[in-house]
Amino acid sequence: MTAGFVPPPYPYDRLQPLIELARREHGEVVDLSIGTPCDPPPQAVVDALAQSAAARSYPPSIGTAAFRSAACDWYERRLGVQVPDAQMAACIGSKELVAGLPHWLRLRRPDRDTVLYPAVSYPSYEMGALLAGCRAVPVPVDEQWRLDVTAIDPADVERALCLWSNTPANPTGGLDDLGALAAWGRRHGVPVFSDECYVEFTWQGEPAVPGAAPGRSILEHGLDGVVAVHSLSKRSNLAGARVGFYAGDAELVDFLREVRKHAGFMVPGPTQLAGIAALDDDTHVRAQRERYHHRLERVAGILGELGLDAPMPGGGFYLWVPAPQGDAWGLAESLAQRLGVIVSPGEFYGSSAPGYVRVAVVQPDEQIDLLARRLSGS
Ligand SMILES: Cc1ncc(COP(=O)(O)O)c(C=O)c1O
Repeated sequence: MTAGFVPPPYPYDRLQPLIELARREHGEVVDLSIGTPCDPPPQAVVDALAQSAAARSYPPSIGTAAFRSAACDWYERRLGVQVPDAQMAACIGSKELVAGLPHWLRLRRPDRDTVLYPAVSYPSYEMGALLAGCRAVPVPVDEQWRLDVTAIDPADVERALCLWSNTPANPTGGLDDLGALAAWGRRHGVPVFSDECYVEFTWQGEPAVPGAAPGRSILEHGLDGVVAVHSLSKRSNLAGARVGFYAGDAELVDFLREVRKHAGFMVPGPTQLAGIAALDDDTHVRAQRERYHHRLERVAGILGELGLDAPMPGGGFYLWVPAPQGDAWGLAESLAQRLGVIVSPGEFYGSSAPGYVRVAVVQPDEQIDLLARRLSGS
């Protein structure tokens, strides 16, 4: 026995009994618990991954000039923000940045020890704080799942290394007021890190650029004091290749670039080439948007037939469904039994939302057909 940190059980491992139940009842299990993409990336992206020349030398930790340029071009084309090259850098997907950030920010500000994050959220914001030995302080969310920054204790603000926001939000699908969050962060001297990895799957609101799909970035409100975090995992179905990027405040981005260089965080060379091919193409993203939107509607319809209220989210590819009598594990179990489908109980995303389940519409259409057939008994 050690007295040190004991990693908690990985949340999704706790679903094993439900998977066994679904398998016993139906044979084939439809797993809508983890938000892992299943659709193919474009061929040009796959071809780029196979270019061995890019694998020979060490890739630059901050991303190659071509990768950063593709990310800056995408930012301007899609989100209407010009990001200077020095304020952009690569990360190995966004989870490592989310989970590692508190440790690095603490090196920068040893007088602070607190990470503020949405009370209902992706678990890695809290876990990153815990892994760095920091305090993880959840910020309450309102009835539209937006951060209620007025509820943060001033003593926690004083100690805050950063505030995390996530728009569109996992698991709730909520869309936050990024301008208000940027202003709050500047007013209080707290860097705001905006996780925007679902931005391409925003269903509501105005586009940032005429003719583009909806989707907004915190960087529209200025780069000072804020950092946006992006990923190609969801946008381009590249979760297995591991590539993302972050951009924003000159001093923060420069600090992270330098620290991460020393620590050897590098997106593999072929993955950087694949990232460039993916960022240069919007056609596959439009197709992916349609797939997810269609699946959201279909799965919401199936859940509706079971008497469940599954509202369409403001963004993202999750349905956030209130459980009857607030019994999320009971609902997860009955869905495993009735349809052979696995969903995630709300407690995976914080103790403030135990009465919900999250349904990720990430499986191919044939799997959703299977659910529809099980529902109708055919
Ligand atoms: C809100 C949010 N942020 C970050 C990630 C991490 O994605 P990746 O590390 O693949 O970029 C996820 C993945 O599910 C997520 O839902």
